[in-house]
Amino acid sequence: MINGYNLTNIGISLKVLFTSYLCVVGIGYMMAFTQILFTHGMADGKFGLSVDDIVYSYYGDRTGTLIENKLNGSMKDMAEDHDRLEIIKWVREGAEESTFESSGVKMIFENNCFACHSAEAEMGLPDFTKFENIKERAKQDTGATFSSLTRVSHIHLFGISFIFFFVGVIFVFASSVPVWLKSAAIAMPFISQVMDIASWWLTKFDPVFAWLVIIGGSGMGLAFAFMWFVSMYEMWFRKKGEQPVADEQ
Ligand code: HEC
Repeated sequence: MINGYNLTNIGISLKVLFTSYLCVVGIGYMMAFTQILFTHGMADGKFGLSVDDIVYSYYGDRTGTLIENKLNGSMKDMAEDHDRLEIIKWVREGAEESTFESSGVKMIFENNCFACHSAEAEMGLPDFTKFENIKERAKQDTGATFSSLTRVSHIHLFGISFIFFFVGVIFVFASSVPVWLKSAAIAMPFISQVMDIASWWLTKFDPVFAWLVIIGGSGMGLAFAFMWFVSMYEMWFRKKGEQPVADEQ
């Protein structure tokens, strides 16, 4: 709190601004988590996030090819079982261009995959109308590529620090928690985020670091939830006269 201002006694308009922001960012956080469940969460073919999912996503399931692993994981619902098996069989037989059409696999791709995996779909996904993009994914699955990791890393570093900067600025005005706890909660997402992203890269080289991904991600979620609920509580449920605990003057 600055100059005696805290979340309980700031004016109503500022409360509305802070609350609106926190609500939208909160929904965003839930959406991001849902997306993680549907992509990484499905990497091992089972719903729900596990250490295996993280290993498969970053290190890769090196016993198989990316196409096969995806068809048994997050792409499982994209084609009928016999069509999926047809693709997998073709991939196991070497994914030759000469048999792509004759085996009927091309048709299966057209009917089931191009809707999202093409330039027209504009989803930023690998374009499977180009054969080389299929061929590339018919090799051993070594997890996230270097280029996808750099892309996702910088987007997360910029985007997430932006979000947590403002969540932190709001939480600076909290007065019901001691200063040490307040400071820890403000710093935690930034530390967790760096840890989380560093551990994606480390997991790419050694699956043992998958645990660090989970710890980093959980730390971030925990700090977010804590700051969110304390801020909301102080703005709307705490009585004006209550003595501040956090005094930084
Ligand atoms: C409804 C849209 C949609 C359809 C249809 C679809 N995919 Fe995907 N596909 C995605 C999304 C989104 C991703 C990225 C998330 C992921 O990897 O799970 C993806 C990723 C992939 C990847 C990983 C690419 C990479 O380089 O990381 C492969 C391989 C893949 N899909 C294969 C297929 C195949 C084969 C089909 C057809 C049987 C198919 N997909 C149909 C949406 C789709």
